[in-house]
Amino acid sequence: MARKIIIDTDPGQDDAVAILLALASPQELDILGVVAVAGNVGLAQNARNALKVVELSGRDDVRVFAGCPRPMMRELVTAEHVHGQSGLDGPDLPEPEIALQQQHGVDFIIETLRSEPEKTVTLCALGPLTNLAMALVKAPDIASRIEEIVLMGGAYFEVGNITPAAEFNIYVDPEAAQTVFQCGAPITMMPLDVTHQMLGTPDRIAAFAALGNRSGMAVAAMLGFSERFDLKKYGGPGAPLHDPCVIAYLLAPQIFEGKTCNVEIETGSALTRGMTVTDYWHVTDRAPNANFIRSGDSDAFFALIAERIARLP
Ligand code: BDR
Ligand code: CA
Repeated sequence: MARKIIIDTDPGQDDAVAILLALASPQELDILGVVAVAGNVGLAQNARNALKVVELSGRDDVRVFAGCPRPMMRELVTAEHVHGQSGLDGPDLPEPEIALQQQHGVDFIIETLRSEPEKTVTLCALGPLTNLAMALVKAPDIASRIEEIVLMGGAYFEVGNITPAAEFNIYVDPEAAQTVFQCGAPITMMPLDVTHQMLGTPDRIAAFAALGNRSGMAVAAMLGFSERFDLKKYGGPGAPLHDPCVIAYLLAPQIFEGKTCNVEIETGSALTRGMTVTDYWHVTDRAPNANFIRSGDSDAFFALIAERIARLP
């Protein structure tokens, strides 16, 4: 039976590839809804981007919701310098014809977790954790009903990408991240430590374009755009592809390796705001609260994504 998921996201080229990967995998993943959150760009634009991505896939049956317009306690920090003014620069996608759902995304998350059988819904978080945390604050009873939270965020050995100490998704809303990491539900995290191994090299991007379908062309255009900034920054053979790690983990966990650790979020210091302090070597007696993924097979990862994108229109 397909695993039920909610995708919480701020698309984002890499979010878009993650969403397409899930949309292309109906046998394994039953997408109950896609919820937009403020992050890479503002909420309204992220929600529009989510609609465009769903429409690109031809899966108009998948509902899209808008969640929170800003972090719980802080001003919103965005990343147009990485993702472009639209948040999804690169492909030329038409304005969406499908509409956003009226219900608030946070209420959708709560209602779904309460109405589905206990521990049968997995939350896939690809952006700042505001919506998930707000749902947990508004309805603490849902924590024990979550099957798993699989999120892209944080870093330990790779430290940071938006500041020297922090990864973007956690940095934007550290209080939300703290709420999520302390909620007691099983968490698997995809930190920069693994996503920095998943490099979109020119060959891998060309393979998407060569699929010949509109989704493959769009993915190639998205990755081609997001390369520009990262190649200059990291100087490697390709730019990291972050968010699809979350969906790939659900489809093929054998691609990844990690271990269970305690992860705490820095919320007090201005210098290290949003740092994911990971007890990787178990030097404290703090209880483990996350499956910290440290490495993955990048060939298998890109092959999986290409094989699935090929199934889309
Ligand atoms: C994360 O930040 C965003 O810009 C990406 O979409 C990804 O979710 C990587 O740090
Ligand atoms: Ca994202």
